[in-house]
Amino acid sequence: AKSIAVLTSGGDAPGMNAAVRAVVRAGISKGFGVLGVRRGYNGLLSGDVEEMNLRSVSDIIGRGGTVLYTARSPEFNTPAGVQKAAEACKKLNVVGIVVIGGDGSFRGARDLTGAGVPCIGLPGTIDNDIASSEYTIGFDTAMNTAVEMIDRIRDTAESHDRCSVVEVMGRRCGDLALQVGVAVGATSILVPEVEWDFQKDIIDRMRFAQKSGKQHFIIMVAEGVGGTTELAKKIQETTGIETRATILGHVQRGGSPTLRDRVVASEMGYRAVELLEAGSSNRVVIMRGGKIVDLDITEALSMQRVFDKKLYDIALQISI
Ligand code: F6P
Repeated sequence: AKSIAVLTSGGDAPGMNAAVRAVVRAGISKGFGVLGVRRGYNGLLSGDVEEMNLRSVSDIIGRGGTVLYTARSPEFNTPAGVQKAAEACKKLNVVGIVVIGGDGSFRGARDLTGAGVPCIGLPGTIDNDIASSEYTIGFDTAMNTAVEMIDRIRDTAESHDRCSVVEVMGRRCGDLALQVGVAVGATSILVPEVEWDFQKDIIDRMRFAQKSGKQHFIIMVAEGVGGTTELAKKIQETTGIETRATILGHVQRGGSPTLRDRVVASEMGYRAVELLEAGSSNRVVIMRGGKIVDLDITEALSMQRVFDKKLYDIALQISI
């Protein structure tokens, strides 16, 4: 029987398991054998592959992480590595692969398609940094986790009349910081997409809010801006307000996926199998206008991200 394979690659994201489940179940329903490849592209190179059945993905829709494990594979990222992986796929009689991951994983999928193995990419990353898609699997869960954590930080910042500088993940993308910053009412939101000035965008805003009686502050920093610990020191020195820094880190990557991530992952996983069934290749499944659609990988990789400046400006006006 013809088989398809599924792998997760790059940083894990909550909802990847829901996507794996959808691919396995849809694949089997449509008459394919489904192989689970462990640890991303590394599993193709080392033959770490298992035959999946309907029950292999039972009870994983609500679990964080990825049951297939994940990795970033330097060996695969060479022409020889891609060739070796393509040959492994042919030996396994694999007619197509669903790759769940970010931009780096999509580049791998494009190269593997070029070497004769049809690939379909699914956007899975907490960063929401895939230009072609309005939404990436894991983003909703990460945002909600960050909000929950910062609500806790706020309790203690408020009790002590302190300022808390909080860094969220996102690599070079400010989406997590923006959404979370709005949701927690951060006094300032620093993202790599928008230039900022220490005095004007942080200190002046804190002083202004102080005049109307505000005595505790959350300053939101995107990972791509960095310097969070030093920034907290500088704020304390300049304002005399006791300031603490918190880097939320990998807590944002784990946890049970939200309803949204489970549903989007299920729809996208199903769509990927439909595409392979129809003989399509080199496509990514994306969200556009709230709908699940697909696009050529090469075209998707050439797109530029658009930052939501409107929401950023709204945040500045109402978080005062
Ligand atoms: O892409 C997800 C992400 O968590 C980014 O936000 C972050 O920059 C990076 O991965 C961290 O990678 P690692 O887990 O390898 O340290």
